[in-house]
Amino acid sequence: MLNFSFQNPTKIHFGAGQIKAISKEIPLNARVLLVYGGGSIKSNGVYQQTVDALAKHTWFEFSGIEPNPTYDTLMQAQGVIKAEKIDYLLAVGGGSVVDGAKFIAATALFEGDDPWDILAKNQSFTKALPIGAVLTLPATGSESNGNAVVTREGNKLPFASPLVRPLFAVLDPSVTLSLSDRQIGNGVVDAFVHTIEQYLTYNVNGKVQDRFSEGLLQTLIEEGPKALLPDTKDNVEVRANIMWSATMALNGLIGAGVPQDWTTHMIGHELTGAFGIDHARTLSIVLPAVMKVRREQKREKLLQYASRVWYINEGDDNARIDQAIGLTEAFFKKMQLPTRLSDVDLGINDIELLIARLKQHGMTALGEQSDITIDISHEILTQAL
Ligand code: NZQ
Ligand code: ZN
Repeated sequence: MLNFSFQNPTKIHFGAGQIKAISKEIPLNARVLLVYGGGSIKSNGVYQQTVDALAKHTWFEFSGIEPNPTYDTLMQAQGVIKAEKIDYLLAVGGGSVVDGAKFIAATALFEGDDPWDILAKNQSFTKALPIGAVLTLPATGSESNGNAVVTREGNKLPFASPLVRPLFAVLDPSVTLSLSDRQIGNGVVDAFVHTIEQYLTYNVNGKVQDRFSEGLLQTLIEEGPKALLPDTKDNVEVRANIMWSATMALNGLIGAGVPQDWTTHMIGHELTGAFGIDHARTLSIVLPAVMKVRREQKREKLLQYASRVWYINEGDDNARIDQAIGLTEAFFKKMQLPTRLSDVDLGINDIELLIARLKQHGMTALGEQSDITIDISHEILTQAL
């Protein structure tokens, strides 16, 4: 196992009716900015529950944070923050809203010249407004991690800081019943790929991390499809297991002390930045290709994945790996996601732009050994055609 330091201070309130907990979590003297997206929270009752919980607070609102939040939209929040002396952010929505709140929180107290440098130049910051979250879409893990991704003119860039990790997060699985099938599928696959990227590397004998990861993968494989089937899609137990899996997949626990490979995400961000493809749908296209191109480097873990997650124990090594990759693709298809660039109408002529963007963003040494060069990313994208 590798050395690690681990702390996750986000307090989780899980279950039906927990939105009420906001009233006690946010200090009564705070000046709160409720931030949300395009309005789904108004049609599913989450907005009203939040407003009820804030009855004794002084609060304002900022809406319109779009999926894959943009720099321009997020910067607009600074006006109300200054005018109303906001000192607490409450993000209510999916990963885009929570990520957006993180960038707003960092920008509000930023002392550098240009807030975009936080993303483009990896500039650190020393202060951020406190954040609480009500999660409505299980997928990203953003509700209990310090990561965020922001887009500006096709450049979709991540940043991370413990200062923007939400202090608390409310996870009520019943609020996910209003999600479309597309967003359910996206969320399950995003959480699945987060788990894989902290698992499918090389063996460091991290038994606890491996078995946690295998448990999350199996839970998502079992419960994910149920959330799309007419007989089981409204089952809150199914939604609860998906929601908790997604949080656990990216709250720092399974990745502590093991190598990680975020190649699929970094190539995926370019696909979203350049072509607007939903985040998870980029992952379902890129991950199978990464598995195929990196099968030698990942051989031992691919065999473990085949055996422990899919119970494939017959046949020679290569056949078992092929079967495991095939079952992964079949699972993504079952969740109604694309697995090839051609499924989203992209072809060989689109690869050069993606490669140019990867270079521009410094994504030239990806993978658990930092040995995925631009040429190998090219091979991965070609494999994904
Ligand atoms: O904007 P509203 O109206 O709320 O609608 C949203 C949005 O259109 C809708 N939605 C959310 N909850 C709903 C709902 N509709 C009905 N009922 C509900 N309960 O779903 C749509 C998509 O929402 P979005 O927040 O964009 O989805 P997701 O949670 O998948 O977030 C994706 C973003 O998170 C980033 C992605 O790159 C992308 O920008 N990620 C953040 C990570 C992190 N912070 O750790 C890690 C991830 O790998 C990912 O990169
Ligand atoms: Zn993701």
